[in-house]
Amino acid sequence: MTQGTPSSPAPKHRTGNQPDTQVDTMNRRGFTKRLAKMFGAVFGAIFGLPAVATLADPVLGGGASKWVDAGTLAELAPGAVKRFKYPVQAGWETREEAGFLMRAETGDEVVAFSARCTHAGCKVRFKDDEFHCPCHGGVFSRNGDPIAGPPTVPLVRFETRLDQDHIKVKA
Ligand code: FES
Repeated sequence: MTQGTPSSPAPKHRTGNQPDTQVDTMNRRGFTKRLAKMFGAVFGAIFGLPAVATLADPVLGGGASKWVDAGTLAELAPGAVKRFKYPVQAGWETREEAGFLMRAETGDEVVAFSARCTHAGCKVRFKDDEFHCPCHGGVFSRNGDPIAGPPTVPLVRFETRLDQDHIKVKA
């Protein structure tokens, strides 16, 4: 018998005195795999999450309101109404929406409305001191309250503030 010589294959069963090289190799492989997975997870978190957040931003709230510059107070006489534009995020595209600024008869107070009718979303126009909707005859008062036609909800009002002489609208 040549059992135990260097050219003979290693025994497949463990004996108490022999080193378990097969088990050691398996442990090293398992450890290496786990380490690779861990690094993959860390790198994925570092580089993947910001990319996912950027891509998902428009869908998950990137379209949230932002302060926009709607011109200067000097351009809006007391009691006057004028249109302004603001960007709106629609998915991954940005489009322009219209709104109205209205300055109080006295003082510097400015209110801002969306130009979208609250009935079905058509654009209202300011005429004869009221907002008129061309689609179904809706009419809103100067304060944006529905006074005729199908709309029952006031025009959407935006928060405004003055920054020096500039009118800022959160739209
Ligand atoms: S959409 Fe304005 S009245 Fe219908």
